[in-house]
Amino acid sequence: MERGHCDPTCIEGALLDCHFAFIGRSRGVSALSRRLTDSLVSALKPYRPSLPLGELVERVNLIYHRFEAPDYDRRHPELTRQLPPIWQEMVNLASGLLPETGLRVLDFGCGTGFEADLLLQFLPQSSIEVLTCFDPSPEMLDASKERLSKATCPTQFVSVPPWQNGHSVEPYDLLVSNSVLHHLSEPLAHVEALTTVLTPRAVWIAGHEPSRRYFQNRECMKAYAMYMRSYRWRKYLKFANYAAAAGRMRGSDPLVSTAREATAEGIFSRLPATWLVGRLIDFHVAHTPEEAATGRGFEVRELQSALSAGWSLEYLRTYSFMGPIYEGRLPERWRRIAKDLKDRYPLDGANFCSIWRRRGKAQKSGS
Ligand SMILES: C[S@@+](CC[C@H](N)C(=O)[O-])C[C@H]1O[C@@H](n2cnc3c(N)ncnc32)[C@H](O)[C@@H]1O
Repeated sequence: MERGHCDPTCIEGALLDCHFAFIGRSRGVSALSRRLTDSLVSALKPYRPSLPLGELVERVNLIYHRFEAPDYDRRHPELTRQLPPIWQEMVNLASGLLPETGLRVLDFGCGTGFEADLLLQFLPQSSIEVLTCFDPSPEMLDASKERLSKATCPTQFVSVPPWQNGHSVEPYDLLVSNSVLHHLSEPLAHVEALTTVLTPRAVWIAGHEPSRRYFQNRECMKAYAMYMRSYRWRKYLKFANYAAAAGRMRGSDPLVSTAREATAEGIFSRLPATWLVGRLIDFHVAHTPEEAATGRGFEVRELQSALSAGWSLEYLRTYSFMGPIYEGRLPERWRRIAKDLKDRYPLDGANFCSIWRRRGKAQKSGS
């Protein structure tokens, strides 16, 4: 839900939540993720969760995406407007690293079929032996099935990860994901599990993940704070903001529904605050410098070093230089400011897309 969830109506509330309630000031740089989990666990205490943090993140995500699935594409215009050209560029680059025919593709966390749909637009379908779409949410999987119903290549839709399905899997040459890693409590463990079903020289196109570098860049933070100040009054003129607030009051906000459903299922013994449920769902998204200082959000150089034994980074592009505000909708002046930040700090956009390649020895010819 990450960027779409952070619509401008929520941002100021979220900032206040974070500043005053959630996470303390920076206390040094060691054990970042430990501090992230510690602060979350203590914020969750009053709601007495019945599951350990990792399982809690997984269960709450499952509930949330059930509620988000019917409306997902409409709620995320920033994905459908911003990402297709980047995916086109990535698919072109990746196809130069892949076999020309017989491609086996795995879409991890396929959602409503967004990245699979793009892939099929930018890659000849005749080159694909199979496209396997995996998502733990049956509602998301149904939506992707419908979206990809006209695909001419063989497709499969599975809700059990291929490494857990109990029989051996012919390995995949291409892994694609988009906006999913930040929902996982242990993304690196997932990458490790994924490698067991990939060819030794497999390519991974990882689209649209959040970067905490944005919140650690003072210039970016200054520009973002200025924008938010200028937005303070204009937001009252926006119909969409009233519609969103009305939705939240009616309970049609998936975050509100998730908090209620998780409590009804006994996952919490008291209705948790929705901002906290949001932090569980977007487990690796930083919203403020303070959150970034606790280790929330990915740092691409850290990721690169954590993955370096098995993967090489082949492509990196960062964007979203006005944080959660989609640049395409900004007034001209702010678009210029965002572009200037991008030129000066190309690694520090609030989101990034990347391509990785496994370092193993090729076994099949051409792979
Ligand atoms: C923000 S949506 C992105 C969906 C799609 N990839 C896109 O970009 O439109 C996140 C997706 O990750 C899935 N997800 C959540 N937890 C997951 C997990 N542990 N493993 C795989 N996918 C997961 C959700 O069900 C949801 O479909």
